[in-house]
Amino acid sequence: MNWPKPGRIRDWIEERLELSALEEMGRHKRVPVHRHSIWYYMGGMTLFLFGLQVATGILLLLYYRPSAGEAFESVQFIMTQVPFGWLIRSIHSWSANLLVFVLFVHMFSVFFMKAYRRPREITWFSGVALLALTMAFGFSGYLLPWNTLAFFATQVGTEVAGAVPVVGHFMLKLLRGGEHVTGGTLTRFYGFHVAVLPATATLLLGLHLLLVQKHGMSVPPAIESEAKREGREARTMPFLPNFLLRDLIGWCVAIGILAALAAILPWELGTKADPFAPAPAGIRPEWYFCWMFQTLKLLPGHVLGIEGELIGIFGIGLAGLVWLLVPFLDPGTPGTGGRSRLFSAFGVLAILYMAIMTVWVYVAPGG
Ligand code: HEM
Repeated sequence: MNWPKPGRIRDWIEERLELSALEEMGRHKRVPVHRHSIWYYMGGMTLFLFGLQVATGILLLLYYRPSAGEAFESVQFIMTQVPFGWLIRSIHSWSANLLVFVLFVHMFSVFFMKAYRRPREITWFSGVALLALTMAFGFSGYLLPWNTLAFFATQVGTEVAGAVPVVGHFMLKLLRGGEHVTGGTLTRFYGFHVAVLPATATLLLGLHLLLVQKHGMSVPPAIESEAKREGREARTMPFLPNFLLRDLIGWCVAIGILAALAAILPWELGTKADPFAPAPAGIRPEWYFCWMFQTLKLLPGHVLGIEGELIGIFGIGLAGLVWLLVPFLDPGTPGTGGRSRLFSAFGVLAILYMAIMTVWVYVAPGG
């Protein structure tokens, strides 16, 4: 057989895969350097945490059992018997929360930097779809340990889906696998969590990253007009190795934070779900759903003869649609070099609203 000599392995691989083309692409890619450059690291951080979820999720799969009779016990086994099982499960759960947080930071930073404008509209749309998928990952994963809190939170969450006009009952049955939350719901959520959502997210992520690569990083309008006024080119740095090495530092810090959180505050398991027990007090969803939960809770039973919950669901749906269509709705403020103050104010209001509603759930659980 004609094996390549050890020193020639690189050449052998190169001749077949032409990996140097990738390296060349990385060296050609440049990242703008200005006072807001820190936000460019958020997409990479989200990507890193997504990868960490996949890796720790695969390890959890080796011991997890997706049935009402065994799910809770299998997670208990992971936490107490499997070597480092507690660490892997705690990192998976903490990292899921950090991922959602960093994803929101990434999304709002591209919003404020106006990175959704032509030609990046589809990058924005694929991002909004990734946000929806990430929330669905969180919702489906929450039920998997089959504990009391998750069981009742899923009951409330799927009830809200059931209240949507026309398609509500169909959605409720699709999610629950019947009229009620049962072991069948758990099996479905498992299927969504480990197969449907990862496959869809991988495709969308591929599109998102391809578009980022194609269009390069955007420069905020304010920075661009500043450079124009001063008659100079905007500064940049090479992606490979300068930007990637900085990315790596951030990822090492993230791993450190996650390991510390997992060691100091291992993720709790609670008590096994009992479908026949009454719902405990203070049921609430994961923090990133709380602003919607609180909005629905604050609405009166009826407004002008229309059910309050329906108005809330319609309002949240409309807000989602407006968010998706941001690239088409932002007109830019004339005479400000491409800035749009009204739109930025709208973004600040959205953050304030979500933050106040979320804190409200935690400080006044019954209110
Ligand atoms: C799993 C979720 C996501 C991952 C892994 C991800 C990853 C990335 C990466 C690596 C970049 C390039 C670096 C950067 O600009 O930070 C990027 C850029 C971008 N992302 Fe995301 N992203 C995600 C979700 C989102 C969401 C939710 C939105 C908005 C709704 C979004 C909109 C954009 C836009 C518009 C850009 C271009 C930025 C520019 O050119 O300056 N992404 N994303």
